[in-house]
Amino acid sequence: MGEPERPIILTPIPGPKARKIIERHHRYVATTTNNPTYAPLVIESGEGVWIRDVDGNILLDFSSGISVLNAGIRNPVVQKAIEEQLKKMWHAAGTDFYNEKQVELAEKLNEIAPGDFEKKTFLSNSGTESVEAALKIARWSTQRKLFIGFIGAFHGRTYGSMSFVASKPVQRSRQFPTMPGVYLAPYPNPYRNPWHIDGYENPDELVNRVIEYIDEYMFNRYVPSEEVAAFLFEPIQGEGGYVIPPKNFFKELKKLADEHDIKLIADEVQSGMGRTGKMFAIEHFGIAPDIICLAKSLGSGIPIGATIFRKEMDFGEPGVHSNTFGGNMVACAAALATIEVLQNGLIQNAAKLEGLFRERLQEMYDKYEIIGDVRGLGLAWGVEFVKDRKTKSYAIEERNKILLECLRRGLVLLGCGVSVIRLIPPLCITDEQAKIGLEIFEEGIKAVIH
Ligand SMILES: Cc1ncc(COP(=O)(O)O)c(C=O)c1O
Repeated sequence: MGEPERPIILTPIPGPKARKIIERHHRYVATTTNNPTYAPLVIESGEGVWIRDVDGNILLDFSSGISVLNAGIRNPVVQKAIEEQLKKMWHAAGTDFYNEKQVELAEKLNEIAPGDFEKKTFLSNSGTESVEAALKIARWSTQRKLFIGFIGAFHGRTYGSMSFVASKPVQRSRQFPTMPGVYLAPYPNPYRNPWHIDGYENPDELVNRVIEYIDEYMFNRYVPSEEVAAFLFEPIQGEGGYVIPPKNFFKELKKLADEHDIKLIADEVQSGMGRTGKMFAIEHFGIAPDIICLAKSLGSGIPIGATIFRKEMDFGEPGVHSNTFGGNMVACAAALATIEVLQNGLIQNAAKLEGLFRERLQEMYDKYEIIGDVRGLGLAWGVEFVKDRKTKSYAIEERNKILLECLRRGLVLLGCGVSVIRLIPPLCITDEQAKIGLEIFEEGIKAVIH
């Protein structure tokens, strides 16, 4: 495709070919989250940070296929590893027979995951499946049945993981009853929390309030702590709005968990694999969880999930848990190559570009009242739009219009939370490309507010 310097826009978006495909899509494909009013993009191909649509427009990717393409679109090292594996064997029933690729991947994941203890890994196909495995490992090893999750979370669409989902009511609608034994606590969202604490100014107060809520109100009243198997949390809430909790939160949560012998499960499906400038987002918070869930970017787009856990928590007994595609050879090859390229400079690049994003987005915050909050780490940024900075009322329509204005100018973005836009480019993005993307983002904002 050849990498351009800037987006190349040849037709209105959606163009004529895209319109026809979108129409067919909605006729034949089940309704999911596709929305033609603010995301009418029909993708044909791509390379690096560039996406070509079916009408020949070339757009800059600030969405990474929902944080899946951290290594870049069709990263050549990952592509080569996939092609080499395709020549040998694709599927080898990794939970019944043995293959070295899955062993290599498990060894690698156990080595790079935080925690100075021995680990094991369960391989699967998606984020939700990696969370389901974590729940089963926690119940199996502790013989406790209850869990605590957090409001604002997203963990997946199957019944176990969905029972912890609390970022949009539509994600649970007409699906009750969900899994019993799941209780939710407020997440220490510095910008919006039930106590109206400014968590940027007073992070410790916010952390204490959440810990106190769990300890005093949940444990002392209706959730017997000795029956809680684990806390399930995202180190950074992704779908919930790229919310970054105060630095101290997970240390305090771990103290509480240790007091009650409760395990910690970090869902790094969206926050992991270098996105925040470290391989795992939890590394910013100085604790090692007992279980880590991965998917999305692990395989650079080849479906794979992984649940890494303390060795002593293993099922031990054959048949308690398994699947068909876990340990898929092509997916494992893609994941091993992805880890290699992330470690060979891309994570560093994400950390390096944090300053540019912080500075440019802060400038926009200073100029445009419609921006209520800017937060981020590495190349994981959320910009929250509000009608009024005092009331913080959600500017949903405006957010959606900004998404469309940016798309029409050649910048691909995704919403999240209620009125947030996430800026999550592939980690191979250059300074120049990042500047161009941020410039288009600002143009998109101006087009909507002026
Ligand atoms: C934090 C987190 N966990 C789990 C999932 C579910 O992943 P999947 O869609 O691959 O099942 C997602 C998906 O967005 C996620 O962001």
